[in-house]
Amino acid sequence: MPRPIPPKPRRARQLLPKECYFSPEWFEREHAELFSRAWTFACVAQDLPEPGDYKAVQVNRYAMIVVRAKDGGLNAFHNTCRHRGTQIYEDGASGNCRHGVVCPYHAWTYSPEDGALRGLPKKALAFADLRLEDWPLHRGGVGRIGDLIFVNPRETPEDDFETWLGSMRKTHMWPHSLEGLSEKRPVRYDILGNWKTFCENAMDGYHLSYLHDRTLMGPDIEDQDWDAVGRHWVFIGQGENESRRDSHYAPIPGVDVSGRHPAVWQFFPNSGVLSSSIFFSAYTIAPVEPERCHLELRTWMAPREAGDAGRKRARPSGTSGHGHIMKDGRRYISIAELGCHAMESLDFQIEDMWVVEQQQKAFRHPLMRTGELADRGETSLTWFQANILDHVPLEGPALPLAAE
Ligand code: FES
Ligand SMILES: [Fe+2]
Repeated sequence: MPRPIPPKPRRARQLLPKECYFSPEWFEREHAELFSRAWTFACVAQDLPEPGDYKAVQVNRYAMIVVRAKDGGLNAFHNTCRHRGTQIYEDGASGNCRHGVVCPYHAWTYSPEDGALRGLPKKALAFADLRLEDWPLHRGGVGRIGDLIFVNPRETPEDDFETWLGSMRKTHMWPHSLEGLSEKRPVRYDILGNWKTFCENAMDGYHLSYLHDRTLMGPDIEDQDWDAVGRHWVFIGQGENESRRDSHYAPIPGVDVSGRHPAVWQFFPNSGVLSSSIFFSAYTIAPVEPERCHLELRTWMAPREAGDAGRKRARPSGTSGHGHIMKDGRRYISIAELGCHAMESLDFQIEDMWVVEQQQKAFRHPLMRTGELADRGETSLTWFQANILDHVPLEGPALPLAAE
């Protein structure tokens, strides 16, 4: 049964004690009570064009596989063999498994259509009594909105995908299609902050004109709005920042940003979309440790036009040239390894990362308490926290509180 969704609050108020942002016990409860049944962005339809195409994705603590079925549908399985549990595909691996999902350890082989165990070597000799039908791959849930594919560790979560989306498809859909766009190199931001510290910063509309006074430059709180859709936060833009209009990047066809339009989506709990007339990004905020998260960001833009290669181009915000370090096929960015101070980077994403780390450090200050929140610009934090508390109530197993 889907749970009732908290209403959009009128007044802003901090609901979570600060211990929820660093306590290992609370972090474990979030994994057990929230992420074990959460929908999370996994990959895009363009990653899996042909039947049998698969992609191995890490979804919070779950290694999973998304597979394109023969009929064009999608399947999600857990990436752990039923024999001795080995992870079958390496993290991030992709390929085609139409002839079977084969574990590299002892070659147990599963169907890419339904995960059934099809065969194993030396069965008569070594596993005379084993019934193949008892050992299928564990299934997960899978859903698609636009080109984005989401997975759930549970095959039938209490909120099915459409229930979880709410009215999103009808009322707040983005016009972008990834068909024909080219993907930039994915980026991992390694952030020394709790995942919620990052999410709350992403939903804080009050800071845009101040922290980002040299990059985003607003909008001010009187010029912004957000909608509550299901448990998701949608930032509503009014026209588009002048600096983007002057950009040398090609506009994405079919994207009209002249009027009131959704521009940023924070899918509850930890996935999101950023969009503009020149780029489309999808991301997850992976909860790695109580005080560490990874922002995993993928970005698509219109391809460069022929003869355009030598032209000087402005940078779109958030996809700047920082992070020349490569790890696991991604650009890797951490505050410690930046070549300049974060606030000199002229990259709003790095400015956010820096302030999240400053916020995280503050939680350890014995006198630090969250003060008043802004009734314009920060009601989103109250709502996000109410949704967390719906899944992980404060009155759960004892949480050691910091000394007063
Ligand atoms: S662990 Fe996979 S076949 Fe043995
Ligand atoms: Fe920001």
